[in-house]
Amino acid sequence: MSESSKLEEIRVAAVEDIQKLKVHSHLNLELIEEVRVKYLGRNAGLICILKNLSQLSPDVRPQVGKIANETRKMIESEISALRDNLVRIQENQKLVSEKIDVTLAGRTHDLGSFHPVSLVISKTEEIFARMGFGVEEGPEIENEFYNFEALNIPKNHPARAMHDTFYVSQNVVLRTHTSNVQIRVMQNKKPPLRFLSAGATYRHDTLDVTHSPMFHQMEGLCVDEKVSLSHLKGVLTAYLQAFFGDKTKVRFRPSFFPFTEPSAEVDISCVSCSGKGCRMCKESGWLEVLGCGMVHDNVFRAVKYNPQKISGFAFGMGVERLAMLKYQISDIRLFFENDVRFLKQFRTAL
Ligand code: DAH
Repeated sequence: MSESSKLEEIRVAAVEDIQKLKVHSHLNLELIEEVRVKYLGRNAGLICILKNLSQLSPDVRPQVGKIANETRKMIESEISALRDNLVRIQENQKLVSEKIDVTLAGRTHDLGSFHPVSLVISKTEEIFARMGFGVEEGPEIENEFYNFEALNIPKNHPARAMHDTFYVSQNVVLRTHTSNVQIRVMQNKKPPLRFLSAGATYRHDTLDVTHSPMFHQMEGLCVDEKVSLSHLKGVLTAYLQAFFGDKTKVRFRPSFFPFTEPSAEVDISCVSCSGKGCRMCKESGWLEVLGCGMVHDNVFRAVKYNPQKISGFAFGMGVERLAMLKYQISDIRLFFENDVRFLKQFRTAL
């Protein structure tokens, strides 16, 4: 077969293949490349003819060379047109699919919020920090010595009975209050001491609107020479008025705790009726918020402090209770259900 008719065959086949590409419903760059290699690749018939032109007789060489070059150019330009076209179509599709409607309302991210228990603790720590109180921590799993004995709670005290206390093993309990931290800190540090300690506490209570087997307390301790009941009253009044508002009235009522003498319970004027009497304060005008007192000599003796030389005051309060009063929350269970609709209400609180 002459070179010219070979070339004609190649041209016809190439035109046919290119036509197929043009009408292909799923054209892609690989398919185009296949056709390009078939006709313009190193071993393609057309390229071989071009390579071997010099071996042709001089009388056909110019004619064959001309047709071969024209055919190559034709295929090259068809292939590159196909490629350009395909790239343009793909870019357009991308533009359409990635189109951004700038008039659409933005999707906002929900901001997290602090748990009301955390809010009450940090606000309280902040108020006490202004009066020189640092922050201490203690274990939630505790020896009976720290939870009871050193706090002057004798072996037969009702607080130690099984119905109140979770026992981990014979002498080990889940702390029933944060007062254990008083003992641990006094054992490790010398007076003067001034700190607050917040954390989880556990009691064998059935869950209801006001009781939870796990809840939080904040404990305060101030120990130095000549600390008096008036310091206790001044510090706690300042705190309660900073926390609940400066119009809050504060009342100290004599009470009893084994680890303080004298002891008191503290009431504030009702946050709901300001003292007039309502359902929240059971018509009394007052709400109980904390327990406190002057540290008992026996407690000082248990940590080898000399009660002749130093004195101190202590207090303890329930975090959930404070939060319930401050935010008028009626059910303690809400704190532990983690319902976002409840939690997110405290985003800007405090
Ligand atoms: N530990 C007591 C309780 O859980 C609260 C308390 C009362 C703590 C008086 C004190 C205090 O430090 O002085 O009910």
